Amino acid sequence: MNKYTNKEFIRHTQNISVIRWQSAYLPIVEVIKHIDNYQKEKILDFGCGSATANQIIREIYDLNIDGVDISPEMVHVAKKNDSAGEYRVLEEDGIIPFKSNSYISCYASFVFVEMESSEQIKHWLKEIYRILKSRGLIILLIHNLSLVGKVNPVYSQIVKFGEKRKKYNIGDQFEITLYGVSEKNLPDISFKDYYWPIDMFKKFVKNIGFKNFDYKVQENNNFIKKEIKNLHNHGIKMIDTRELEGITGIVTAQK
Ligand SMILES: C[S@@+](CC[C@H](N)C(=O)[O-])C[C@H]1O[C@@H](n2cnc3c(N)ncnc32)[C@H](O)[C@@H]1O
Repeated sequence: MNKYTNKEFIRHTQNISVIRWQSAYLPIVEVIKHIDNYQKEKILDFGCGSATANQIIREIYDLNIDGVDISPEMVHVAKKNDSAGEYRVLEEDGIIPFKSNSYISCYASFVFVEMESSEQIKHWLKEIYRILKSRGLIILLIHNLSLVGKVNPVYSQIVKFGEKRKKYNIGDQFEITLYGVSEKNLPDISFKDYYWPIDMFKKFVKNIGFKNFDYKVQENNNFIKKEIKNLHNHGIKMIDTRELEGITGIVTAQK
């Protein structure tokens, strides 16, 4: 059963996504800003969850975002958080209920890491390809798998990825604990995701027909630093000051 049907889990992820904001979402904005006329185009948030960030992304960066998620509960919350977007529920192994060739970009933030099978991954990548316009960009945020099972003094203060020194294979589950922030009264949260290596994504994406595959680990570059200031200037106080770069991997490819 999808854990996002559990109310307690939804509440925790909403809190945690507040502190993950700058780490997880600014690289998406950075990539989308390179697309011509991006403010006039439609963008799809695949696996939108509660769409915590979308209202802010919409207001500050003027993006036109719709969303889909497999969990009806999450879509319900997303509609409340971002009333301007169209949010729809996905059926398992179904279709994305939007027209072919209609989105300039589709991002999926920590969604493919939750899929149980490689067949499911292929299915949804193909669907995303279908709804993208020609030259449309797919953006997947995933875990930096090179940290899984590793003891890293920087990240072990923030997150635990799997069991120390254990070697993980393709499709294995591994437990992630995001440590809470006591000053903000945020508790730890643990959940299991899947070990899907970057080479697998590369192969699937290429077989489907995407071009220009790229993968990089997020760093707080000048763009991100500038945007953090920009968000502060807009009165957005949700950004955590802990060092979160290095945890997120960003896959991009073009139709
Ligand atoms: C970790 S949450 C991320 C939510 C949001 N993208 C964010 O970054 O804040 C993962 C989301 O993916 C959704 N999800 C899991 N498997 C999915 C699938 N096969 N298709 C669509 N959404 C899925 C879950 O219901 C959940 O809302």
